[in-house]
Amino acid sequence: MIFYFTGTGNSLYAANTLGSALGEEVKSIPEYISSNHGKITIGKGEVLGLVFPVYYYSLPTVVEDFLENLHIDMEEGARSFILATCGATTGDSTNIAKNHFRNKGIHADFVFALEMPDNYVLLYDVQIGEKQDRILKSSRDSLDRMVQLIEEDKRGEYNEIKGPMPGMMTMIAGALYRRGRRTQKFHVADSCTSCNLCEEICPVDAIEIREGKPVWVKERCVHCLACIHRCPVSAIQYGSKTSTRGRYVNPFSGF
Ligand SMILES: Cc1cc2nc3c(=O)[nH]c(=O)nc-3n(C[C@H](O)[C@H](O)[C@H](O)COP(=O)(O)O)c2cc1C
Repeated sequence: MIFYFTGTGNSLYAANTLGSALGEEVKSIPEYISSNHGKITIGKGEVLGLVFPVYYYSLPTVVEDFLENLHIDMEEGARSFILATCGATTGDSTNIAKNHFRNKGIHADFVFALEMPDNYVLLYDVQIGEKQDRILKSSRDSLDRMVQLIEEDKRGEYNEIKGPMPGMMTMIAGALYRRGRRTQKFHVADSCTSCNLCEEICPVDAIEIREGKPVWVKERCVHCLACIHRCPVSAIQYGSKTSTRGRYVNPFSGF
């Protein structure tokens, strides 16, 4: 069983690719949290996976909440992996996930990281054209390699893109992320067509449609940026910078 969280489809694509190669069911973390869930058992020969995007060298808050509340029973012969998708470097985020696993009595048998197109459009413009194609092609090769490592049972720590001073980066940036995540700078342009997609896809129900337009009703959200990137008419903005920047959705995610 592979659990994933995604804003713009990179982690979904990775989870689906690994899930179909390994014959494992793929489950969305927000959907799992909002459904009536009980204890999960991972049986002999089965694989537990966690796929998440790196946020500020750390984990999305919704993923940490999920891990803190997870009830899981790993039977003998069950294995597990952690996969962080990121735009460049993970910091210590995979170690944080490993610690959460350990707190639940799970040993992370495989730890992977995958460079994907960067969706942090609050700070940078998105990668387009050849650059994006190159990253996506190489991610496909890396995912094939991960499948091979799991199938051949070559357990280990394969995250080689932690970047400099990962512990320090995660401590500082992760704290900023958890305290930040404010919604007050999200706003919508008149070009909004009232399609309601943003409300439907927000993983933490932070958006409500009022008089046909999105309103951010929670002070904080996950900052996954799904609303910004997946708005069909790019009407959603954050502050003043995103109106001149592109949008990104993983072309293989099915979004
Ligand atoms: C709030 C936020 C913070 C991010 N922080 C990082 C980061 O610290 N390091 C990094 O390499 N990428 C960072 N990114 C980029 C994403 O990790 C990357 O694009 C990821 O693959 C997106 O996955 P998704 O499409 O499944 O949402 C950040 C993205 C967001 C939205």
